[in-house]
Amino acid sequence: MALKDQFLGLVSHELRTPVATILGNALLLLRRDGSLPEGARKQALEDVAGEAQKLQRTIENLLLLTRLEAGPGPLTTSFDMAELAGQAAAAFLNRNPGRPVTVDVTPGLPAASGQPALVAMVLENLLANAAKYSADGLPVEVSLSTTGGEVLVSVRDYGIGLDAGDEDALFTPFFRSSRARGWAGGIGLGLAVCKRVIEAQQGRIWAVARPEGGCDFRFALPVTDGPGA
Ligand SMILES: Nc1ncnc2c1ncn2[C@@H]1O[C@H](COP(=O)(O)OP(=O)(O)OP(=O)(O)O)[C@@H](O)[C@H]1O
Ligand SMILES: [Mg+2]
Repeated sequence: MALKDQFLGLVSHELRTPVATILGNALLLLRRDGSLPEGARKQALEDVAGEAQKLQRTIENLLLLTRLEAGPGPLTTSFDMAELAGQAAAAFLNRNPGRPVTVDVTPGLPAASGQPALVAMVLENLLANAAKYSADGLPVEVSLSTTGGEVLVSVRDYGIGLDAGDEDALFTPFFRSSRARGWAGGIGLGLAVCKRVIEAQQGRIWAVARPEGGCDFRFALPVTDGPGA
């Protein structure tokens, strides 16, 4: 099948590059352990960790895509989006030391309905994109608000931005904008997975090009029904 060939080609390429970096650095550390200057040793370890993290996210996306295709929708619970976003931002900061990331929460935010582990993966993908498609050191801003019926999440960056008209295509498997291709690697699956995950939880997800540059990726999940919601 054409789509399958395209898929295998892209995935193989995107898996091969980080593996080559990991192997190269691991061999360097093994062979020259002790004689490497401290700075070079630290850089090699950072490269290994960074590339392994990219691989892990790609593999999680691939697994999730097959899982969503095969099975019924995920089980839904009531959860605190502010807590989840705080955890996602902390993990992001660990992976991207020095990158300014803020989480702004509207007071009185109601509980959201969904599957927290899957929502965490969506946040991870959006944050990874914000970092990947903007220059080092530029801020990433997360804000949480509510319309009453939904909890709204926005992840903003000051990066390469979008071409008008691409907003919907970004969520199609394998689509990558021409400016993104020239900027960084990727297989174009992250947002397609996010869309499936969010829609499986009765939510919606969309992209907004910011007039001042950069992107604003938003998603909304229903607030929890019931007393106190
Ligand atoms: N923050 C962003 N700024 C600009 N363009 C973005 C941003 N996030 C996503 N895009 C565009 O949407 C496309 C699809 O994003 P998606 O996360 O699905 O794939 P990817 O980042 O290319 O690869 P991967 O599957 O490894 O995440 C990107 O290739 C890029 O063109
Ligand atoms: Mg991505």
